[in-house]
Amino acid sequence: MRNVLLALCAVWLLTGGAGEVPGGPGGTAPADNPLAGDPKAIQDGEVLYKRVSCHGCHGGNARGGNGPDLTDDEWQRAPSDQMIFNTIKFGRKGTMMSPFKDDLTDDQIWALVSYLRYLGEQRKAEGK
Ligand code: HEC
Repeated sequence: MRNVLLALCAVWLLTGGAGEVPGGPGGTAPADNPLAGDPKAIQDGEVLYKRVSCHGCHGGNARGGNGPDLTDDEWQRAPSDQMIFNTIKFGRKGTMMSPFKDDLTDDQIWALVSYLRYLGEQRKAEGK
């Protein structure tokens, strides 16, 4: 019995314990938004959203234009914070969504993620 337990422990250790490798493509970002819910980050995100031209495609309140609505529940890929981060940083190949990794720091991208999350919550609260 003791050997079986040891073997299980070994397998767990070998497979890295918790599974998934953090970071995904690019591999540098933490899995969760380190700025989540930070009111300053939400404000920064709003300023960036307007300054960096996201609004040109996603609309002034991110409810869609040439690019998709970013505040409803109909994401094309089930969005963890990490996935939204990666979409903004690396873009979506073959679409109008270009990478912003040369224009924005990681903190600025997380601020945008915070802002989009905030808009989504607002919209839920309004019930539309
Ligand atoms: C030139 C137009 C354009 C600009 C500018 C642009 N986007 Fe996009 N964005 C798109 C398009 C088109 C898609 C859909 C890509 C696809 O089909 O996968 C998209 C997808 C996204 C998604 C994923 C949506 C989903 O449903 O999975 C996020 C998040 C996003 N954009 C955020 C941003 C942010 C933040 C900015 C500003 C830094 C920005 N975009 C600037 C066109 C644009």
